Amino acid sequence: MNEQFNNVSNMQIYSDNPLAVDDEGYGTDSNSSVTSIQTSRHSLFSASHGRRYAALNDSYFLPNDDAELQRLDLQHYMLLQVLEGRLHIVSDPEFVPGSVLDIGTGTGTWAVQMADMYSGSHVVGVDLVPIQHEMTPPNVEFHIEDVSNGMTYRANSFGLVHSRLLVAGMRNWDTYIKDCYRVTKPGGYFQGTEFDAELKSDDGTNFSELPSMRVMNVINGMTETMGYDLHCGTNMRRRVADAGFIDIEEYTFRLPIGTWPKEPRLKSVGKIMLENAVKGVNAWGLRVLVSSGMKPDDATELLEKAAISFKDPKIHMYVTAHYVLGRKPENLTH
Ligand SMILES: C[S@@+](CC[C@H](N)C(=O)[O-])C[C@H]1O[C@@H](n2cnc3c(N)ncnc32)[C@H](O)[C@@H]1O
Repeated sequence: MNEQFNNVSNMQIYSDNPLAVDDEGYGTDSNSSVTSIQTSRHSLFSASHGRRYAALNDSYFLPNDDAELQRLDLQHYMLLQVLEGRLHIVSDPEFVPGSVLDIGTGTGTWAVQMADMYSGSHVVGVDLVPIQHEMTPPNVEFHIEDVSNGMTYRANSFGLVHSRLLVAGMRNWDTYIKDCYRVTKPGGYFQGTEFDAELKSDDGTNFSELPSMRVMNVINGMTETMGYDLHCGTNMRRRVADAGFIDIEEYTFRLPIGTWPKEPRLKSVGKIMLENAVKGVNAWGLRVLVSSGMKPDDATELLEKAAISFKDPKIHMYVTAHYVLGRKPENLTH
């Protein structure tokens, strides 16, 4: 890792010690500065319970309306803070990807920023729905495709394959990561980033009875039964190795929810994570609860209560993000 990236590991979230708590000046305000995103309206969308979803593959259970797109960009800027402004974790300072594939690109913000950063490289973003930015640099393009049954891209095509936050869309992770290996160029990289969907605390803060925790437990139980892997962050390294990637690196980060940490950057990450949780609990839970038979209004009310309880300043919870990087061997015999 180069000097810049090494600094990331100095962040407290990367150490094994409990995160230090700032017990002064806790605030629960969460004003987002993210601006609204123009979306294309298309038959690829379906609407239910007041939110908009993907029609191409309804097993992706998060919405994709304007509120959700704002949340995704908020999350993107939070993750940029976590990596101290870096878009990827390849440490070679000479690295130029040449061609990039961003799978489940969402708003396409990561893809656009990669295209700006590597103006001589070509960036492809692929997603179920056309929700990407319309003003883009000339070296980026977006495709609509369901990647869960195998991608249409040719083998050995991309110098960097990037996959971030697909936990709610993927049920066949082993096959998917092997497909990522297939489309990666020999010598090229795959970077997978996922959060484990588990709320944790290091200092004994008891949140088991909070509405947020109770609702998350119900939703997590149901999504696991439906075949989603809520520990795909933890399992990423094994899958990347099984697919054939080598020189694997993994970095884990504890992402606080709330402004309770003492360290300023963690406090800033925590502030965004709190906004993310407050906005995300409806996105994460509505479709799942309604599909279990709950009335949409009851589900919405329950999720609102859960969202409010994330703001309790006495609760020091966090989720763990896993970044896994693997390289496809240069000299392949097959
Ligand atoms: C949580 S968002 C993450 C967006 C982006 N990767 C980021 O980190 O900001 C997941 C995205 O993956 C897309 N997605 C989910 N399942 C997919 C599939 N089977 N094929 C293609 N895209 C998919 C969704 O439409 C959504 O835009």
